[in-house]
Amino acid sequence: MKTLSDQAVGTAHGKIILIGEHAVVYNEPAIAMPFLATPVEVIIETIDGDSVISSSYYQGFFKNVPSSLKNIYTLTETICADLNQSADGMSISISSLIPPERGMGSSAAVATALVRALFSYFKKSLDQTSLLNYVDISEKIAHGNPSGLDARVTSSESPVYFKKNSRFTSIPLHVSGYLIAADTGMKGQTKKAVEDVAQQMKQSYKQTRQLITKIGLLTEEAKTAIEENHTARLGELMTLSHDCLKQLNVSNEALDHLVETALKQKALGAKLTGGGRGGCMIALAKTAKQAKRIAHKLMENGAVETWIHALGEDFND
Ligand code: MEV
Repeated sequence: MKTLSDQAVGTAHGKIILIGEHAVVYNEPAIAMPFLATPVEVIIETIDGDSVISSSYYQGFFKNVPSSLKNIYTLTETICADLNQSADGMSISISSLIPPERGMGSSAAVATALVRALFSYFKKSLDQTSLLNYVDISEKIAHGNPSGLDARVTSSESPVYFKKNSRFTSIPLHVSGYLIAADTGMKGQTKKAVEDVAQQMKQSYKQTRQLITKIGLLTEEAKTAIEENHTARLGELMTLSHDCLKQLNVSNEALDHLVETALKQKALGAKLTGGGRGGCMIALAKTAKQAKRIAHKLMENGAVETWIHALGEDFND
């Protein structure tokens, strides 16, 4: 976060949920990691008159933003009111390499970068608790009932073990292996998927609760697998959690197809990541060579973009 005379910059990055999505909304744990390959930057400069915003969604007067940017608008108004500052006279420019609406934490990362930029612009100090509270305001508008996970990981430099309403802990990612992330090219539907799981919780409580509890247990086991460097077991747990997410109806054909493709290519495990119903999936490979082959096959089978992320120490190919 830096200020250049009357220009302020705030940054954040994307995230990948290794395991525990959706269950985390119901107080089960989740493990997620920062995805530094996908940075976000917000720059604020002083202008005369009404504030303007420039993003890939919209360019124009801030007061006329489309509903997809309502979270950003409300967040800015709230911060300006809390800091006794005018919300006019700013040019806010958002640039992001996170594919939007793909379960990679785009909305939380943009909100995080914006909060940091606004505090820097108004020359106010910002502690982590206030940052998370502000990002939660924006995430509630974007996602309905967020667990807070995205807000924490998009502002963190290390992997996070997280339980709603409790302290989140950074965990070292000792496990060796390569994580492949692939984008289906379809917008994910986090808000709708979270709402539908809540509906299922009302309609078929026992069955839904069992699935949520099972994801929680798989996540606890994944934490142990990470701590003890059991890459193969971590992979199995990822695939088992995908099966649960499928039964929760938050996967879709494109995600299932990419998961099956990765498993056919001898991935140690594969699952959707984030809210689901589109968006991204992840797969785990033992070596860089296998990871490249899996990424290639995922592209042949409909993925529009892939990323490879080395975890912990290297294995030799
Ligand atoms: C979205 O990235 C993760 C979900 O668990 C929702 C949330 O935690 O707020 C689906």
